[in-house]
Amino acid sequence: MNVQRQLKVLDLHPEIEDVTEEVCAGLKKRHKSLSPKYFYDEQGSQLFEAITQLDEYYPTRTELGLFDAHLSEIADLIGEGVCVIEYGSGSSLKIRKLLKALSPLAYVPVDISRDYLLNNAMALAQDFPRLTVLPVCADFSQPIALPEEVDGMSPIAFFPGSSIGNFEPAQAKQFLLRVAKTLGCGGHLLIGVDCKKDRGVLERAYNDAAGVTAAFNLNALSHLNRLLGTKFQLDAFAHEAHYNEDAGCIQMFLRSTMQQQVSVGGSVFTFDDGERLHTENSYKYSPDEFVRLAEDSAFRCEHYWQDADEYFALYLLKAL
Ligand code: TRP
Repeated sequence: MNVQRQLKVLDLHPEIEDVTEEVCAGLKKRHKSLSPKYFYDEQGSQLFEAITQLDEYYPTRTELGLFDAHLSEIADLIGEGVCVIEYGSGSSLKIRKLLKALSPLAYVPVDISRDYLLNNAMALAQDFPRLTVLPVCADFSQPIALPEEVDGMSPIAFFPGSSIGNFEPAQAKQFLLRVAKTLGCGGHLLIGVDCKKDRGVLERAYNDAAGVTAAFNLNALSHLNRLLGTKFQLDAFAHEAHYNEDAGCIQMFLRSTMQQQVSVGGSVFTFDDGERLHTENSYKYSPDEFVRLAEDSAFRCEHYWQDADEYFALYLLKAL
């Protein structure tokens, strides 16, 4: 029988920003920018799922390979009586593999989008009937209080997919400091981070031949058109992603292919022919760099694992 489980959500009431105001603030800047959060509507999430399946996009399959090879060792290092806290709730294969390997007492997905959080949490609660699922609706750019039900359990936070690389390094440090505080001394963080490597491999991963990443990038504009009624012309912008070796990150832009004007909430913005709108960075860390960042952020590295090509790394960190 398929019993619908009731889930209690701990709602920390993340503030919903004024979209028009935020978009305008980014477009007013000398170097125009748009927050990467506009990538993720229904269509954006589907396109992102398609990116993870691309031949050129090595991170997802490489990280999954590391899970398959090392999760039982990770489970031994972590021990029993654990609760898994996932930053950004996923319905993905990754969290399922982790839950199977660790058999935790509780699972705490944290996400800002209430609907997305609840749908994923419900699906996992159905598939893991003995697991206590305690969703927390919160913005993880703020400190998070864990539900009291997990008091006494050993917490392990999970942040896969090199999402840490989408923060600026200073923000990444602030994020890790907050995670360490939420976990408390002795808590673990299992985090997947993309490594520095050959420029060609990196740039192909963000410029796939089928144009899925381009469609994903452009979808931020369709999302705004749907959300705000703006009239961004998708065929007047082109996807651009390149590796900035000095900064150590992939930078993504939408380049205006003509001189054009777009109005947003009563303000008119001019794009010159060739002018770029910055949409996201994806920082890459060598193990040395990442271990140093972790040590500067109240963690120490217990162990890390890389694939044979050293494309991707999985770190098990312990909060000090
Ligand atoms: N964090 C992953 C990365 O930087 C996934 C990701 C986030 C991504 N935004 C993206 C992948 C935009 C492609 C394009 O690779």
